[in-house]
Amino acid sequence: RALLPDRQDLAGQRILMTAGPTTSAIDAVRYITNHSTGRMGAAMAEEALRRGAAVDYVLGMDKGVVRPVAPRGTQGRLRVIEVRTAEEMAAAALQYLPLAQGVVASAAVMDYAVAAPAANKLKRAAAAIALDLVPSQDVLGSLRQAATGQWFLGFAAETDDVEAHGRGKLEAKGLDYLFANEVSRLGAAGQTGFAVGTNAGVLLGKDGSRHALGLGSKADIARQIWDLIA
Ligand code: CTP
Ligand code: CA
Repeated sequence: RALLPDRQDLAGQRILMTAGPTTSAIDAVRYITNHSTGRMGAAMAEEALRRGAAVDYVLGMDKGVVRPVAPRGTQGRLRVIEVRTAEEMAAAALQYLPLAQGVVASAAVMDYAVAAPAANKLKRAAAAIALDLVPSQDVLGSLRQAATGQWFLGFAAETDDVEAHGRGKLEAKGLDYLFANEVSRLGAAGQTGFAVGTNAGVLLGKDGSRHALGLGSKADIARQIWDLIA
């Protein structure tokens, strides 16, 4: 798959993507985040580039996060913007939205942020402490509100009732497509979701369509998603 395919069905499209995890600082040296590695987003970006698209890729940075590798001949069409918090991700994505024909929101955005991060390193003590969390910015919601005719593909990682929750999110968030997958078993114990090379799930469309995609590499799943929506 190193070579470009004949199909250039995304030629002329500029696609805005969010990918990877966001983080929220607890103090000067600690933060909270989630298990996202950005691999599904990277696979989506690489396949979009192969098909002729330009990609503005807003990536939540953390240890081990996977960046997309532009296939040969497509380097000039990939722009990566590194961010950490949900607020930074929203601000960067909103900046590039006007250039885009479509949005792929694969980021695992932290739903909560630390209310009052400490400027210095917190010191160890014997007593228990509590961490106050406040809702963080809804990146996709902000993009949806600012949209001027772009199409939207969202992702949803669910531990239960995957398709029902996915359908609900597709409608509530006003998306054109949503790819829902299961994440109940992490890492080596599971074959879908966070931090593994494979995935499976169901692509839901706002027209009521559903396409189940069987277990495959994240590159395979990305190719099938683009086959269905390109
Ligand atoms: N999303 C986002 N900003 C957030 C939360 C979610 O942009 N603060 C985007 C994700 O990138 C994804 C979609 O919204 O494309 C669905 O994310 P998900 O976490 O499944 O949705 P939530 O509404 O946060 O639902 P849940 O309570 O299940 O986490
Ligand atoms: Ca969420």
